[in-house]
Amino acid sequence: MAVERTFRNYDAADVSKAVKEHYRKMRQNQTVDYVRRMHQKYLTFSKPMHLWEAMEHLNALVDVSDPDLDLPNVQHLIQSAEAIRADKRPDWMQLTGLIHDLGKVMYLWGSDDDGTSQDEQWGMVGDVFVVGCALPKTCVYPEFNSLNPDMADDRYNSPNGMYEAGCGLDNLELAWGHDEYLYQVLSNHKTNSLPEEAMVMIRYHSFYPWHSGGSYTQLLAPEDRHYLEWIKDFNQYDLYTKSNAVYELDEIKDYYRPIADKYLGNGPIYW
Ligand SMILES: [Fe+2]
Ligand SMILES: [Fe+2]
Repeated sequence: MAVERTFRNYDAADVSKAVKEHYRKMRQNQTVDYVRRMHQKYLTFSKPMHLWEAMEHLNALVDVSDPDLDLPNVQHLIQSAEAIRADKRPDWMQLTGLIHDLGKVMYLWGSDDDGTSQDEQWGMVGDVFVVGCALPKTCVYPEFNSLNPDMADDRYNSPNGMYEAGCGLDNLELAWGHDEYLYQVLSNHKTNSLPEEAMVMIRYHSFYPWHSGGSYTQLLAPEDRHYLEWIKDFNQYDLYTKSNAVYELDEIKDYYRPIADKYLGNGPIYW
């Protein structure tokens, strides 16, 4: 009998305590204040490092929030890229698959207190949500929503919270993590010529309560529906390509290096 593999199963029996604990801490600590502090701390663009060196560093990181994979994160990046390549999708999308989680290099400069270290990852990985407005029930483990201190603050605990209705996705502040970090780093990178679709895939792929839960409609602008199409397209490669296939980074470099040079240049990226 063929057993179909399921993904993103967070039911108690299947998921390690660590995943649930990760989400409890994330919900408890990711507040408006915290997110703004992390922007101050991380968006300095002062640390030069080449793309391939950043990839090497993800060889040492396993994402604790992922119930589907316990391989080093660089393997997930290569699996995603290779699946996009196998489907003969455009070169920029293959590169996007290869780099989309690279913001996790944050752990190199991270700390346990901020949730940005190897041991404490709640400020770095996992599904994100909007800070500054009510947390929706579509968050994974919604029972943790009430632990967030902002939910006791009248400025932040209504459906619109601190936002104008219909302000659009790009005007929302999301929980801090690897998506926003890489998006900001690449936005600041002078030789970046990735198309808008790629930048959206990088910035919003972890925003599950929106792209899969259908929440936050009151804050969206009409243009955001393109974003949703792009994210859904990308998400199949982020989610359904997880396997135990193991690649050598050096073996895939020959193929991806010219694509990376084409869209990002070959100089260092400032993290
Ligand atoms: Fe990710
Ligand atoms: Fe990913």
